[in-house]
Amino acid sequence: MSREEFQANILKKDPATIQTVISNHLASANMQQCFPLPKEYLEFSKYLEKKYRGIRWLPIDVPKIKFSNPEEFKRVWEEESIDSLRVATDVGEIDPGDDPILNATTDRVYPHFKNLFIYKVTEDVVGFPYTWKLSTHPIFQEIIDQVKTLLPFFSVFEMNIFESQLPIPPHFDQRFFFDYPTEFRVMIDDDNSQPTFYVIDTEYKELNFVDLPEDTNTFCWSNKTQLHGSTFFGNKKHILVIAGMLDLEKLDVILERSIEKYQYKLNYRLEL
Ligand SMILES: [Fe+2]
Repeated sequence: MSREEFQANILKKDPATIQTVISNHLASANMQQCFPLPKEYLEFSKYLEKKYRGIRWLPIDVPKIKFSNPEEFKRVWEEESIDSLRVATDVGEIDPGDDPILNATTDRVYPHFKNLFIYKVTEDVVGFPYTWKLSTHPIFQEIIDQVKTLLPFFSVFEMNIFESQLPIPPHFDQRFFFDYPTEFRVMIDDDNSQPTFYVIDTEYKELNFVDLPEDTNTFCWSNKTQLHGSTFFGNKKHILVIAGMLDLEKLDVILERSIEKYQYKLNYRLEL
């Protein structure tokens, strides 16, 4: 199935599929319930929600986050990463069942991705119902340092790297749930010639691929206004996921700067 066919098929499923995912997620225990947020945080959030609702996805104006020795990373990855198998129901996701688009197979048997956590402050992982592994290999320290220096987190809980093995159906993550971007990812490397990672706007029901510019590999989206997922054509890519408590003032600054730089390079019309 080509990228265009995939895109058309996903959108053909509207509105029922997307609505089911939204309803499941709204009923779920998202991270706001695990970590009650201070009043000031919620108030500032209202301001950010008005200001940034229009963002579907956005490149982040920071230098590329990367390994100084990418080949060594790939060697460590092959040695240490594990298959992620689902071990619990994720209420934030639709049950793929036997739907050929959402998944012909189940991720309890066939892993959809490999993973390796490279940073973790709690003993368990939050909202991640899959098998996982933490690496303490020193090669990851430079990535941890770049994330902490460049991205707008007050406190990072976890960082992990994924490598998709199959298409990832559209879903929400069990994290924060606001109308402004809270999800940050870094495309560490990507062997695909075209973008594969996409978001779907829950209001407009439109799918946009994350088509990164040359000068950054970091991007963001809202885990409330957008579903996300990925096509898969057999090529490798490694994505870094960062979970943590955002510093909202720093977030505001970095979003403004990134909009200024990239608003006319997006594949949708950003209205603010
Ligand atoms: Fe996800």
